[in-house]
Amino acid sequence: MSQSNIRPESMARINTPELANAFIEEQIREVRAQVGDKQVLLALSGGVDSSVVAALLIKAIGKQLVCVHVNHGLMRKGESEQVIEVFRNGLDANLIYVDATDRFLDLLAGVAEPEKKRKIIGNEFIKVFDEEAGKLSGISFLAQGTIYPDILESDGVKAHHNVGGLPEDMEMELVEPLKLLYKDEVRVVGKALGLPDEMVFRQPFPGPGLGVRCLGAITRDRLHALREADAILREEFDKCGLAGKVWQYFIAVPDFKSVGVRNSKRYEGWPAIVRAVNTVDAMTATIEEIPYAVLHRITDRITHEVEGINRVLLDLTPKPIGTIEWE
Ligand code: XMP
Repeated sequence: MSQSNIRPESMARINTPELANAFIEEQIREVRAQVGDKQVLLALSGGVDSSVVAALLIKAIGKQLVCVHVNHGLMRKGESEQVIEVFRNGLDANLIYVDATDRFLDLLAGVAEPEKKRKIIGNEFIKVFDEEAGKLSGISFLAQGTIYPDILESDGVKAHHNVGGLPEDMEMELVEPLKLLYKDEVRVVGKALGLPDEMVFRQPFPGPGLGVRCLGAITRDRLHALREADAILREEFDKCGLAGKVWQYFIAVPDFKSVGVRNSKRYEGWPAIVRAVNTVDAMTATIEEIPYAVLHRITDRITHEVEGINRVLLDLTPKPIGTIEWE
């Protein structure tokens, strides 16, 4: 494997299946040469980068790749199930699934401060992953979904943003087959590897997951309401074609209630806040217009189908001044 972290100027932008296949073939040779008959460990979040690395390595070394998917209980609806379906059932991956929901939610109980929540989630993730790695023997390599922008911005964002930041004292050689690719190229490679569109074109999702959208101290009932409301939003955006046009869209649920009426009775509930933004680099963002008919449908479904939610609000704030996430 090329150890260089600099993308050669001669490297063509991978934008066709043919170029993707050539890249895949080359990486298969390099990965095999690098790891021989040794085992490789990968934290598989289900995000675009780790999913594409997993699919590529499965093609290169099959069961020598051990994927660990940690469900921190803050995934969106159906995401962990999709990881199992695609990788274990579809690609016959060597996949260890850890449902650590209780560990994370117990630690987060009563913690309202955003940075503290992030720290708890990040630290616990490392702990769970470390424990799983400790149960295995003979692992010499750690695969990571590093991509070129991560290297270019290595002072930053992803390193401290990502829950997947792994322990530095793990003494394993890195396998990073995507490290010279831009995001659009990773998606082309993912498609060529046969991953489903839902995975390849997944919108960005923060490492701490719904933890940053369940505002204040997370409770299981409010987290559940958030997950269900978010699933409805995604479904409705898929149906009306907005999913392909909006860069990021999600629900945030604050930790206060207001009074409402349901079935002629007083019904206190949380508001669900809809946020839908477009951006190029996430540094600034504009608001995507959502037709009123779609907003009415979303409101109707969320307030009728989701226990605990009695209002739907729309966030019209661009970045700046608002950040994309609420926290
Ligand atoms: P903000 O809220 O800072 O978000 O405007 C900018 C983009 O970064 C995403 N984000 C994260 N991504 N781990 C990530 O990988 C994180 O912890 C994290 N926090 C925010 C956010 O969803 C938006 O796309």
